[in-house]
Amino acid sequence: MLTKIKNFFIVLLLVLVISQFLRPEKNEGSYDSITAFEEATLVSSEVKTILENNCYDCHTNTTRYPLHTEISPISHWMAYHIEEGKEHFNISKWELYTDEEKDHKFEEFIEEVKMKKMPLKEYTWIHGELSSEDREKLINWAKEARTRAKEKPVDSLLVKESDTIVVDSVKVDSIK
Ligand code: HEC
Repeated sequence: MLTKIKNFFIVLLLVLVISQFLRPEKNEGSYDSITAFEEATLVSSEVKTILENNCYDCHTNTTRYPLHTEISPISHWMAYHIEEGKEHFNISKWELYTDEEKDHKFEEFIEEVKMKKMPLKEYTWIHGELSSEDREKLINWAKEARTRAKEKPVDSLLVKESDTIVVDSVKVDSIK
């Protein structure tokens, strides 16, 4: 029995050592794409710090990699969540979302932060909980930014959009 347990740990150790060489691709795009989002949504420096410390790692193309995230299996776990997080909400692609999508993202944002679903639990184990004051600041900013965006839609101003899309947005506007 003892040798079986010993063998198990030797195999486990080998797997862990080997997996250190299987490094997931890093998420290290330019910060410029985030700047576009921050300017469009009028992020204050205070809110910017909260977003940087709690959300950007999984929801932008620019993740910070502290030492522990270099170690497998944490590195693989992180890569998986970044991929998932960006698929649902990618701040680096903010400008590519339509007005309607942006509005929906804000709605989800407010909901997820309010319900304490974001940042993910596994992330706060290492990075620490988001304080209730910071939660409140994020929610207030998101609500304001959502209202501002509604008052100033940008889709119809896009020159790049095809005629049909512009016609669509005019139609939608006239229904409201
Ligand atoms: C460790 C990675 C991670 C961190 C950190 C993180 N998220 Fe997420 N987020 C995810 C993943 C994965 C999903 C998709 C699955 C889910 O909803 O649980 C998601 C989903 C979301 C969604 C839903 C988008 C949609 O349209 O369904 C919003 C909004 C969101 N996150 C906002 C935030 C905010 C705000 C923060 C910071 C306070 C944050 N997230 C921090 C990984 C993360």
